[in-house]
Amino acid sequence: MLDPLEVLKSLVRDAAVAALGPEYADVDPQVRRGQHADAQADLALGLAKRVRKAPRAVAESLVAALPPNDLVERVEIAGPGFINVTFASSWLVKAATERLRDPRLGVARANTPERITIDYSAPNVAKEMHVGHLRSTVLGDALARLLEFRGHTVIRQNHVGDWGTPFGMLIEHLLDRQGQPSAGDYEVSDLTAFYKEARRKFDDDPAFAERSRRRVVALQAGDAETLERWRTLVDISKRYFETIYAALDITLQDRDVAGESMYNDRLVPLVAELQERGYAREDNGALCVFPAGFTNKDKEPLPLIVRKSDGGFGYATTDLAAIRYRLFDVEATRLLYVVGAPQTQHFSMVFTAARELGWLKPPARAEHVAFGSVLGADRRMLRTREGDSVRLVDLISEAVARAEAVLETKAPDLDAETRTKVARMVGVGSLKYADLSNDRVKDYVFDVNRMVSFDGNTCGYLQYAHARIRSVFRKLDAGVELGPVELPATADAAERTLVLNLLGLGAAVDAVETTLEPHRLTSYLYELATSFTSFYEKCPILSSEGTVRASRLALAELTARTLHLGLGLLGISVPDRM
Ligand code: ARG
Repeated sequence: MLDPLEVLKSLVRDAAVAALGPEYADVDPQVRRGQHADAQADLALGLAKRVRKAPRAVAESLVAALPPNDLVERVEIAGPGFINVTFASSWLVKAATERLRDPRLGVARANTPERITIDYSAPNVAKEMHVGHLRSTVLGDALARLLEFRGHTVIRQNHVGDWGTPFGMLIEHLLDRQGQPSAGDYEVSDLTAFYKEARRKFDDDPAFAERSRRRVVALQAGDAETLERWRTLVDISKRYFETIYAALDITLQDRDVAGESMYNDRLVPLVAELQERGYAREDNGALCVFPAGFTNKDKEPLPLIVRKSDGGFGYATTDLAAIRYRLFDVEATRLLYVVGAPQTQHFSMVFTAARELGWLKPPARAEHVAFGSVLGADRRMLRTREGDSVRLVDLISEAVARAEAVLETKAPDLDAETRTKVARMVGVGSLKYADLSNDRVKDYVFDVNRMVSFDGNTCGYLQYAHARIRSVFRKLDAGVELGPVELPATADAAERTLVLNLLGLGAAVDAVETTLEPHRLTSYLYELATSFTSFYEKCPILSSEGTVRASRLALAELTARTLHLGLGLLGISVPDRM
């Protein structure tokens, strides 16, 4: 373990056991970076009541019980009982120097690698992907990359909406259009228009509606011709989703599609089993399950409808089949669902049902990775002027175009070809970063100009810090010596802060793994880049000499690598020059 804060945490925990007793083994040491020293531990204040001693006395007994170690150089108790810790520079420089040889930059491999399913993106066939899908896609992909890097086996599940009643009208509409010019080769950008046309005919033309209903029956019965038309629609959509994934640099592939249709054959036996076990019962003609603890405003139990009164199966039935598949066929122990907050109740009900059925039990657990909405400048759901939901493709091209404009002023030396390439990395990166750096469960305001600026907690700021370091190295001869890192007593505070920050990547990644909140990693990277900026201002690199220069070059190199890896884990690429 090379993160001083992590080492300090375990020292403090050991001290708590030694000073207060074994029942304190899992106390939270409340260790964080300090204002007055390198770190501080605040646990004494919270423990006072339990221990029945004044917080300062608790702090004193903890400090006295710290096991011997070579990390902690000085400890002071401040105010009511904060424990301020100064680390030994010798420890820090050794850790930083060792990091130069660690390709994982302090990110440990998981002790118990798991099989983790991540349900994300999940757009709907024949519908445009919108900003809600953007969040799911970007968050899910970042989590997938990060968990994979930790050594878990990630099984991506793109739960595409590719089944159900809308396909009746869509297929009928496709057939109606077939005689006409341009039939067959719909782009999905028109598929939205296509969907709307079908919908309008369905609402206005009873004969069309009737045909559509018959078509749904044929689809569910597996009629060959109907299935072939359905396939056509699904394939057009899938090709379109793939272009978006490519534009956004998303790792989802065709083999990750596990759409609603995949569960079709499982629904009849599933529902039969629920009935046999007495878990499902009729309610107003529909077959329902009633997971415990869910009631409507009149305190009546809330149902998950597993078979509608017309005999059809819906979203909930499919999700019950899906959770079962993920537990028993995929054999996952951690099931993540990256879906918007409005579906919170749906997933709690599905998870509760899976527990009541005895499917979902420890060590397996399911988590709804909920996220807030993307808002427009007016703080309402982001919409176009016409009131339609904003298309993802338009957002991507806008972000890239704005990034290109910013680069024209900020990086005028780039040749046109490089600028276009870099603009894509900055534009797409910014779009992702804005999404990831906001607290996942909160709504956020979509502001392209802020997103692509290079100031503040933005993607461009981090990418720029990385490019600047790379440009320092371009000025040097090949084979330049890096390190060892040193921190003499005369070192600037900025240099020490940078070293401390460099050692924190592992903890930031761990925090994301536990909380599934990528903003913990972006905040870390932002802090790292800020501390590099102060270091760069205060501690000249190229004009310094000898071991000082070698050490500073090592710190710059480690910063660049950390930004590169950290952003990479979030699915964001970093250019070498900009
Ligand atoms: N297709 C759905 C939508 O667009 C999201 C599906 C999420 N995953 C799931 N297993 N229900 O809202």
